[in-house]
Amino acid sequence: MLTTARLVLREFVEDDWRALHAYESRADVTRYLPFEPRSEDDARQYVQGIMVHAGETPRTVLDFAITLDGTMIGRTGMRRKDDELRVAMLWFTIDPRHGGKGYVTEAAAALLRYAFEEVKLHRVYGECDPRNHASARVMEKLGMRREAEHIEDIWIKGEWCGTYVYAMLAREWAAR
Ligand SMILES: CC(C)(COP(=O)(O)OP(=O)(O)OC[C@H]1O[C@@H](n2cnc3c(N)ncnc32)[C@H](O)[C@@H]1OP(=O)(O)O)[C@@H](O)C(=O)NCCC(=O)NCCS
Repeated sequence: MLTTARLVLREFVEDDWRALHAYESRADVTRYLPFEPRSEDDARQYVQGIMVHAGETPRTVLDFAITLDGTMIGRTGMRRKDDELRVAMLWFTIDPRHGGKGYVTEAAAALLRYAFEEVKLHRVYGECDPRNHASARVMEKLGMRREAEHIEDIWIKGEWCGTYVYAMLAREWAAR
């Protein structure tokens, strides 16, 4: 469990599929994401999958429910990718009813701190469509560097989309 000034990040529990489904079933939320709006079954399966990952050793997926006053309002996580498990890809989503209040930046900063200082990751990166201004802004506010823009490198929802790549190294975290 990770705590911030306003939030608690905790492991998923089975019933979180309801809160997840309530907003990740929205087309505006998944607009730039590589998956379709979640059905109830998909939301259930997602949460069950994350709970399986939570029991792994070593753990390859860290995905936390972001909670505000005990209610799940979003999630932030990362998947460790390389053979050494010291490079990870970051993600985050929030219920639009709670967007624009700095919650995701606050939650992802706590996850970055955990990732670099406790898990001892070397590099964390995140990707977003260049039109996903809120996502790019979150990564900039986290102090991540925009190090690449790929042009039309991924087919999402019927069109070729581009990708911004943001990254941060452990030494950049320590020096921020
Ligand atoms: C991206 C997302 C997680 C941001 O969550 P959030 O809690 O609103 O983020 P924060 O409040 O911490 O910061 C958002 C920043 O983006 C800015 N922003 C939001 N919409 C914007 C827009 N259309 N254009 C420019 N900036 C925008 C906000 O002003 C804020 O920056 P500021 O603090 O400098 O004013 C949320 O919009 C979301 O869930 N989107 C759908 C899922 C998604 O795309 N996830 C990212 C996957 S790559």
